[in-house]
Amino acid sequence: MDELLKWRDEFPILGRTTYMISNSLGAMPRGVYDKVREYAESWATRGVRAWEESWWDLATTVGDKVAALIGAPPGSVSLHQNVTTTQAVITSCFDFSGPRNKVVLVDLEFPSILYFYQEQQARGARIEIVRNADGIHIPPEKLLAAIDERTLLVPISMVLFRSATILDARAIIERAHHVGAHVVLDVFQATGTVPVDVTALQTDFAVGGMLKWLCGGPGVAYLYVRPDLCPKLAPRFTGWFAHKRPFDFEVGPLDRRDDSFRFLGGTTQIPAFYACEPGLDIIREVGVARVREKSIRQTARLIAGAKARGWRVNTPADPAERGGTVSIECPHAAEVMRELLARDVLVDYRPKAGIRLSPHFYNRDEEIDFAMEQIADILATRAWERHAVAAAH
Ligand SMILES: Cc1ncc(COP(=O)(O)O)c(C=O)c1O
Repeated sequence: MDELLKWRDEFPILGRTTYMISNSLGAMPRGVYDKVREYAESWATRGVRAWEESWWDLATTVGDKVAALIGAPPGSVSLHQNVTTTQAVITSCFDFSGPRNKVVLVDLEFPSILYFYQEQQARGARIEIVRNADGIHIPPEKLLAAIDERTLLVPISMVLFRSATILDARAIIERAHHVGAHVVLDVFQATGTVPVDVTALQTDFAVGGMLKWLCGGPGVAYLYVRPDLCPKLAPRFTGWFAHKRPFDFEVGPLDRRDDSFRFLGGTTQIPAFYACEPGLDIIREVGVARVREKSIRQTARLIAGAKARGWRVNTPADPAERGGTVSIECPHAAEVMRELLARDVLVDYRPKAGIRLSPHFYNRDEEIDFAMEQIADILATRAWERHAVAAAH
């Protein structure tokens, strides 16, 4: 008996679809209806008083819930709109004009991060991109060798979005610290499905968002800063929320707060804070260890199903190296994905990865088998072809 299936009733879409896309957008918990209503009520009935009664501190209370999930102490996580913005906050603490101006990235990184850092070249950043070996792995020796005495930042995913490969974050952080560089660990594809402990890892920064494995919807990303590093950093991308006395509306230099608010700028995204809480609460209650255990079993089942049918798998076979997603490159994968969506099997497709299937704690084993049978049927009946025609027009 799979105990975690008791949570299915909390997610309305699970009754209507085969929902296997939690690496992209986790299913919405039923509790979000009430939370969004609560937000509307507070605005409608309390008006501007809502700021001091609850809204202002939501950035801390919700941030602390994330902190508990990633092994961070209370007060060390600030909330932002998206991960790309957190990179802007972090880089605004550093200067690329000196000799230590190198940024080491990998080519399997999420493209938004690559775009962001490549644009920092105009501000003096030197970029080195370490290439993958086989679409799945980054050669660890090449990556570690690229991190040298001139390296300022290493923005890197703990779990790669394309292949779900788990990188050796500990080795990367140790190497970076040995040469005086800072690591920005992107735990977006890890938190909620692979255990994360930022304190044990001693990473300088950790970033991620709510909308995937945390089932928290769009609009909230988190930024963890190592507590001993926090007071030494002065973000230039800042604003009145970072001020110790925001309501004094002082003219003059910013007097920065000492806690996570130090990394905030302007007015926070209150409705999104409300919407993300039910997902966070459920994941905390389920426990990431249990999610991980089930994920290893179900991703293995997907891999076995794909291999048995002769489809290429662009995800590590070793469970210790694999996050929550399996990327399957069957023939005509992009068109097959469109037909799967038409059949209410929700997955996605990424170039150089294939169809990405991401079971979460709420999925049944039968759904895994059903998704694989549907792919086989779409190929056997050539049902994918109508999408090829649609794409051609
Ligand atoms: C590992 C990783 N980092 C970053 C992002 C995107 O970040 P954002 O849109 O919040 O800037 C994604 C989105 O899929 C991702 O998988």
